[in-house]
Amino acid sequence: MSTTEPGPPGDAAGAVVRRSPADQLVEAPVDGTAPPSGPHAALVSLREEVAKTVVGQDAAVSGLVIALLCGGHALLEGVPGVAKTLLVRTLAAALDLDTKRVQFTPDLMPGDITGSLIYDAGAARFEFREGPVFTNLLLADEINRTPPKTQAALLEAMEERTVTVEGLPRRLPDPFLVVATQNPIEYEGTYALPEAQLDRFLVKLTMPLPQRDDEVRVLMAHDQGFDPRNLAAAGVRPVAGPAELAAGRAAVREVTVRPEVLAYIVDVARATRQSPSLHLGVSPRGATALLATAKAWAWLSGRGYCTPDDVKALARPTLRHRVSLRPEAELEGVTSDAVLEQVLAGVPVPR
Ligand SMILES: Nc1ncnc2c1ncn2[C@@H]1O[C@H](COP(=O)(O)OP(=O)(O)O)[C@@H](O)[C@H]1O
Ligand SMILES: [Mg+2]
Repeated sequence: MSTTEPGPPGDAAGAVVRRSPADQLVEAPVDGTAPPSGPHAALVSLREEVAKTVVGQDAAVSGLVIALLCGGHALLEGVPGVAKTLLVRTLAAALDLDTKRVQFTPDLMPGDITGSLIYDAGAARFEFREGPVFTNLLLADEINRTPPKTQAALLEAMEERTVTVEGLPRRLPDPFLVVATQNPIEYEGTYALPEAQLDRFLVKLTMPLPQRDDEVRVLMAHDQGFDPRNLAAAGVRPVAGPAELAAGRAAVREVTVRPEVLAYIVDVARATRQSPSLHLGVSPRGATALLATAKAWAWLSGRGYCTPDDVKALARPTLRHRVSLRPEAELEGVTSDAVLEQVLAGVPVPR
């Protein structure tokens, strides 16, 4: 299988869904341990809602639903114009959650994200005015366009789930999920996220350029009057909310994982640490992240147990930003995805 973007097979989750993405996600439960249909049906139908505006990009859509189910944050990478913003805006509209969008710009200040103290002349005291981070789903659009200090304010809020102003911590709402979009870092005038903090994102999803047929469908929709600014007109409506999410999360926690599959995840993580192309492999934290995403994928696929294939499917989106290439490998054009694929090919799979 090709390891280079673009194309859905370039993403592991895409590889799993590529035969028939929608069918994969609405697959009937295959055994008696499968979860009840309520929250499952609602969260699976998020895909259909998103498909009302976004053509293809199944791997990214599934990855975002998995992040929601795991309570983790997502990084969404792709060149301009592949519908990153449209995807997250549509997902937000399909969820009955509070959402905000921040366009990151070079002059954005930390307080523009977190909030700041404002002097209230009437009351003669400072009042905290909440920034956009006080929401359930925050679209942090083009996070690379803002300098490190403002990025750090967001990364800290993501990790702590609180904002501290003047020594006073304030809790962020629950759920709290950041989806940060990123243009590939070679772009001029951008600030790469600090590598050491990338693992605050549960997954890194990539949005490739569309296949020819998909691009034709995009143009057909536009030709027929599709307006990306009017999601309601495209028929997008909330199909899942906090209750379904909470139930989904609880159900994902109940997904069973055999000791052999747990050991498989550990073996994959350990193999990355031996890879000659990497100077930093996956940490135990990365291994726990892979366990969480694989369980969520198992549940979304209608199963109450996690298989090695679930692990393989989520390995690249969950691990690609948690490994660091050696400069030599980078110079040779090796990618994290290619290394991860090699690693997966070399680790014995439990039966
Ligand atoms: N896969 C796609 N499905 C539907 N529309 C698309 C797709 N790719 C591109 N488009 C169109 O191009 C626009 C891309 O805009 P945007 O979401 O701002 O992209 P990005 O955030 O990646 O720069 C969309 O609004 C839509 O009109
Ligand atoms: Mg955009």
